[in-house]
Amino acid sequence: MPKFYIFTPMKKLIIINGPNLNLLGKREPNIYGSLSFTEFLDKVKDIYKGVAIDYYQSNIEGELIDKLHEVGFTYDGIILNAAAYTHTSVGIGDAVKAIETPVVEVHISNTFNREEFRHQSFISPNAKGVILGFGLQSYELAIQSF
Ligand code: DQA
Repeated sequence: MPKFYIFTPMKKLIIINGPNLNLLGKREPNIYGSLSFTEFLDKVKDIYKGVAIDYYQSNIEGELIDKLHEVGFTYDGIILNAAAYTHTSVGIGDAVKAIETPVVEVHISNTFNREEFRHQSFISPNAKGVILGFGLQSYELAIQSF
C-alpha cells in the first residue's frame, strides 16, 4: 500500500530592522525594553520552529532598500521596522510598493502617543498591515499574521 505525504513548504519570512535598532537592550530601555534583539530572536526562532525566519539590520537607508529588492520577490513575508526612516523615507516607501512580497510594518513603541513627527509613515500606505505598541511582541504578532 503506497503512502502519500503532503509537504507544506516552510514559510520564509525576514525581519528587517532599520537604524539604531542594533542598540536594542541598551537604547532608551524605558521605551524599547532591556532585551537585545538577538536574545529576542533566539527565543522567537525556538517558538516558531515551523517558520524560517531570517534577520537583517542596517543603519543605512540604501542598504535597507537593496535588501527589500533582494527578498521582495521570493519570500513569503517581510516584517519591517524601518525605525526613524518610517517617518522620512519616500525611498523605502516606494520600495515597499515596488515589491511583491507582503510587508507588515512593525514598531516596538506606540508611535501615536509619542512626538507628532512619528505619526507620519511612508510605509503604512503600502503595507499589508501595521502592528505597533506591543514592545518586542509586535514582531511576534507580525509572524503570526503570515
Ligand atoms: C520605532 C519608532 C520610531 O519612531 C523610532 O524612530 C525608532 C523605533 C519603534 O519600533 O518603536 O527607532 O520604529
